[in-house]
Amino acid sequence: MDKMNFERETNILYKGDRVKGCDIVPEAAPLFLASAFDIAGDLDDVNSMYENKGYTYIRTRNPNRHMLADKITYMENGEDSAIFSSGMGAIQTVLFTFLKGGDHLVASDTLYGESIELIEIMKEYGIDYTFVDFSDTQAVKKAIKPNTKVIYSETASNPCVALTDVEELAKAAHENGALLIIDNTFVTAYAVRCLDIGADIVINSLTKFINGHSDALLGSATGSKELIEKVLTRQSIFGTAGGTFSAWLVQRSMQTLSLRMKKAMYNADKLANALYENPHVIKVNYPTVPNYAQKELAKKLFKNGYGCGAMLSFEMPDDRAKINEFMKRLQICHYAPTLGGVRTTMSHPATSSHRDLPEEQKKALGITEGLMRISVGIEEAEDLIKDFTQALKAFD
Ligand SMILES: Cc1ncc(COP(=O)(O)O)c(C=O)c1O
Repeated sequence: MDKMNFERETNILYKGDRVKGCDIVPEAAPLFLASAFDIAGDLDDVNSMYENKGYTYIRTRNPNRHMLADKITYMENGEDSAIFSSGMGAIQTVLFTFLKGGDHLVASDTLYGESIELIEIMKEYGIDYTFVDFSDTQAVKKAIKPNTKVIYSETASNPCVALTDVEELAKAAHENGALLIIDNTFVTAYAVRCLDIGADIVINSLTKFINGHSDALLGSATGSKELIEKVLTRQSIFGTAGGTFSAWLVQRSMQTLSLRMKKAMYNADKLANALYENPHVIKVNYPTVPNYAQKELAKKLFKNGYGCGAMLSFEMPDDRAKINEFMKRLQICHYAPTLGGVRTTMSHPATSSHRDLPEEQKKALGITEGLMRISVGIEEAEDLIKDFTQALKAFD
């Protein structure tokens, strides 16, 4: 019989369900807690185990990380993936694999706060950087220097959902012999597959939407076999490999990723547009609202049609007492310092993630006292709209 073609949502359930060296296929993935493996045999067997990259020691290789890596590689349409102890573990290991003293990095000025701090620390190791507004593609191109080895951004910025033109910047990076590395945590491969549009490595904090259940800390990097091989070599030395149980949890969660992301993205679109219509809301940052600034780029980037991610932000009047009242009135959405869970959560950038930025910079980034960031979950869209609408009555 001819081999049939199935959709990604179907195939992903079957990716990574085999353990190398195991001749049974359990219906649920087994969990390998072992920190080392018995290399039954003599020195020739030991030699062959190392030569063939078999299972030896947990920091180097582990079946649960491999099973998860197979699913992520498939989802991102890459050749291989490395699984890390956290999103930050992935970012740190990848940047220190491809940058050395004397190199230059062009990075987005709206990166996740800890990524910015990491890049600033890299300066102490002789790695120079320029932070640029990545919604201005020309400005990014201008910042490239002869020694620029990496261009690094996130698909959609935090908290104002400004988009990076991955395709255009991949060309600019490659003309300069540099790599384009994208953190796709905010939107996931179900909205944008960055490798398909030119990125060399795509990073995910698996702690967020990909796990979705707010119970594991893990990260990933996906790309060509050649690049990931280099990353894995560094990972083993840096000791940033992901924990076994977390890998097991995330591969289990990934089986429902497409259902969760489709629902969350559908909800984000509905909620963003309902907020846009609300008289108390000054501005909504989400690609499907009528006055979104990067409409054309959004069409190009989110071309697979599943949605534009499930992160949005919106601006209320700068009135602390009423914002507090709004927060107290909410019955579903609640405050949590994370994103990407199945339950809708909010965060207030001015008092949390961006609290240490100078006022001028906050203003330039659109971070006002009234700005609230929402990570949209998988509740019923109508319930979310009902909840936000009644809570915004605090401003009546
Ligand atoms: C865009 C982005 N990248 C990376 C990270 C870091 O991920 P982790 O907390 O898994 O280290 C975060 C965390 O919020 C994030 O929002």
